[in-house]
Amino acid sequence: MTTLSFEEKKNNYGSHFEPEAYLNFYYCQKTSNNQEGPFPSWSIGDRELNSELARAIRFKIRGMKFCIHSALTGMQSPVRVLDLATGPVCGNMMYTSGFDNVSEILCSDFLETNRRYVEKITSQGTQATGNVFDWKKWCQWAYGNSDLVESFRKKCKQVSYVDMSDKKGKGFEQLEKSGKPFALITSEWAICEGTFDLASYEEVIRKCNSLLRKGGAFILLEVLEETFWVPDGSKPDVRYPRVKVSQEWLLGCLKRSGFAIDVLLLHYYDSNNSPYFDAKGNILVWATKL
Ligand SMILES: C[S@@+](CC[C@H](N)C(=O)[O-])C[C@H]1O[C@@H](n2cnc3c(N)ncnc32)[C@H](O)[C@@H]1O
Repeated sequence: MTTLSFEEKKNNYGSHFEPEAYLNFYYCQKTSNNQEGPFPSWSIGDRELNSELARAIRFKIRGMKFCIHSALTGMQSPVRVLDLATGPVCGNMMYTSGFDNVSEILCSDFLETNRRYVEKITSQGTQATGNVFDWKKWCQWAYGNSDLVESFRKKCKQVSYVDMSDKKGKGFEQLEKSGKPFALITSEWAICEGTFDLASYEEVIRKCNSLLRKGGAFILLEVLEETFWVPDGSKPDVRYPRVKVSQEWLLGCLKRSGFAIDVLLLHYYDSNNSPYFDAKGNILVWATKL
């Protein structure tokens, strides 16, 4: 099986990536006897879940909550937040919206279907719009608070176009002009997706640095050393390429780009025989703009 080239992926992204198919495949969990889902009770231990992927989602929720909470506690308001390449996944931005000092959240993506998906949530409400995935249930399960969907709706004012792979940085200039510098930028499983080599990856990290105010926080979740993944399980032949990022390289890149590393969390897969992705695990970094 071959992996698409970066251009093949980028030019045909919309024909493979379906927001709710992605959410249902990656964000819904099953237990080992396939009996409880899509969000099995936390009292069901991680080792009773039936895949590395399901455990990775729990790591993503726990780790992002820890870093977002730590970074926002005591941070001077008003806090403007940017999430880079949100896709259809607003969970951690819903969590972020619950903090009083957060005044405004910008989500972003290069894919129109993803931007429209998030706009449907912010403009009318999850259930009323044809989006099927139940974000209230998700927020209740992940953060113990279904009201976060409402606070996200109030604080997410914009879903911006941004193309990380564009040499001129399409979209970044508009983000720069959109208001005061951001106090928090987050990005989850996305920069190694939207860039085509380590140099272009580093360029995006530098852009994030310049969008932040001094002392601002950057919270970055990446897959470790992944070369391919599929947009959902029904398309095992559509292998999307990733820029392969190691822990050592990523920390060096952040330091070269003007960040100090505050916290590093790692999540390793016991073994990964998945036909859907070949990552070694996940890396989550909370860094501060110097
Ligand atoms: C693996 S998904 C991650 C989505 C979400 N952040 C999450 O945590 O699940 C990768 C996302 O990157 C977006 N993307 C891919 N290439 C991009 C590019 N060149 N510029 C901006 N976003 C891009 C896709 O549309 C998709 O939403």
